[in-house]
Amino acid sequence: MNEALRISALPTLRLLTCGSVDDGKSTLIGRLLYEKKLIFDDQLSALERDSKKFGTTEDDIDFALLVDGLEAEREQGITIDVAYRYFATSERSFIVADTPGHEQYTRNMATGASNADLAIVLVDARKGLLTQTHRHSIIASLLGIRHIVLAVNKIDLVGYDEKTFRDIVIAYRKFAEPLGFRSLFAIPLSARYGDNVSAPSARTPWYQGAHLMDYLERVEVEDDRRAAPFRLPVQWINRPHLDFRGVAGTVASGRIAKGDPIVVAASGRATTVAEIFVADERTESAEAGDAVTLTLADELDIARGDVLSHPDSRPEVADQFTANVIWMSAEPMLPGRSYLMKIGTRTVPASITELKHRLDVNNFDKLAAKRLDLNEVGFCNFATTMPVAYDAYADNRDTGSFILIDRLTNATAGAGMIAHGLRRATNVHRQGLTVTREGHARLKHQKPAILWFTGLSGAGKSTIANLVEAKLHARGVHTALLDGDNVRHGLNKDLGFTAADRVENIRRVGEVAKLMTDAGLIVLCSFISPFRSERQLVRDTAAAGEFIEIFVDTPLETAMARDPKGLYKKALAGEIKNFTGVDQAYEPPDAPELVLLSGEASAEALADRVIAELEERGMIMRL
Ligand code: ADX
Repeated sequence: MNEALRISALPTLRLLTCGSVDDGKSTLIGRLLYEKKLIFDDQLSALERDSKKFGTTEDDIDFALLVDGLEAEREQGITIDVAYRYFATSERSFIVADTPGHEQYTRNMATGASNADLAIVLVDARKGLLTQTHRHSIIASLLGIRHIVLAVNKIDLVGYDEKTFRDIVIAYRKFAEPLGFRSLFAIPLSARYGDNVSAPSARTPWYQGAHLMDYLERVEVEDDRRAAPFRLPVQWINRPHLDFRGVAGTVASGRIAKGDPIVVAASGRATTVAEIFVADERTESAEAGDAVTLTLADELDIARGDVLSHPDSRPEVADQFTANVIWMSAEPMLPGRSYLMKIGTRTVPASITELKHRLDVNNFDKLAAKRLDLNEVGFCNFATTMPVAYDAYADNRDTGSFILIDRLTNATAGAGMIAHGLRRATNVHRQGLTVTREGHARLKHQKPAILWFTGLSGAGKSTIANLVEAKLHARGVHTALLDGDNVRHGLNKDLGFTAADRVENIRRVGEVAKLMTDAGLIVLCSFISPFRSERQLVRDTAAAGEFIEIFVDTPLETAMARDPKGLYKKALAGEIKNFTGVDQAYEPPDAPELVLLSGEASAEALADRVIAELEERGMIMRL
């Protein structure tokens, strides 16, 4: 093979730049594009004009304006977090994930990093390593980036001083030791003046290494995905007509060839590959990155979200596992809350059953924590509502990662990297029950249900719930009443009123209520339950049609004026923290089955409304 061919055989390099807003990220990319003549002439003259007008670099070109200008243009059109810049030199092509350096930076960075090979960590030579440097490096490592360029920028501003550079490199190497990077290459540079960006600089004679562009053109990064075992997360079943049934998706890793045996991970059903199509063409084989349609020798029950693999190297299948999580939402991550987990092509409800620790990004200390806030990194136990197929992230970046979605806003709330399954997940099996929930209900001649009373403290929930229970009892209906104040003296006496504790309070109550409906009861629950997410969780846990949400709608002023337990007075005086309606939010239901305006009628009349509603729904017999 001749030299030119060998070089062009280098795969496209996907890279990501990280650093704080003013570390020179934009300037560096702008400078690279400029020096490699990758900017159009008209862009260049506009840039020269703008640099004079707005620039911060006197008479020189301000490269940050180039990149920021493109960014602003982009932001007007489409709302995506990460844009990719493609460029090529005679040696190699590049894809740069361009992640705006604002507050939501980690989210953008995580999105951009998820398939990057290399990260350029920018450090301002005057400032040295910052918390951001540490945080971004940890995130890069968690996201599976194995190659780092430490770009010590603004070296001109420290007088091209060798010792400053060396000290930063020593400190970074020490910090990064546990992060498992395979290569770490440090360069002193000035993005503003072009030193060591695409040519060696005469002003750093003490530095003999490659300049940035030279290094990027030659660095070899292995593509682990092709070498990993075969995984096909199924996107859809392609059935254009009765005689054709194809399984479609993008090969996440490995290779597949005609005649290969395959299994469906979750069910363990096996068959062989009959035909392979890539872009409508029949082929003999396919590999990581190919969008394929496979036809199989046997008709198996396969659906979106399944994962196909070779029988001798299957993914794990479990409904409980541990994972590192990067939190990306302004709303804190709360253990017990239900999120949607998108893993491969499967989306399942999932919750954090335990936050094992939060990571101090500066020294890797494991800190005790009850929640994760924006940009924080933690290690958690997860439970999903059904088993999912996955690999450890260390083995497979595609099948080992997931995102968490806020169920109310549909926004990405976090990114996770799976560490390993939890053994108890496979050792605990559901037992079949001899007396079924239908059996219990039949004996009691009733339909089980959960009547969920929600509203502010002092709204009248408990008063109404007690009246409703008495009325049902008088009719011979078997009931149980769970009341916030009472449950907090027993089952939930370990819980307080922080958002995290309220989430757990409602999760437990929901589980208990579900067990009681299994025993055939009509369960009345009276809890402030201020958050929509958890009320939705209980609704989802309950059998279809068995969850009746009753919003006891009392204006805050009325509840305050009533103040039956004198708690509002204390809360307003600052003696009680996290009081609903005072210094913690109440999220009213969007679509409750019933709204009771408690200022407008007596508790007795409102209880009758509930009874009438149950009759109307056929849940109890009309008298
Ligand atoms: S919930 O928000 O987690 O659903 P829950 O209904 O169990 O609350 O308990 C609420 C009751 O606890 C209130 O009726 C009130 O008597 C008492 N309480 C004590 N502190 C607080 C607080 N900070 N916020 C709300 N209620 C409180």
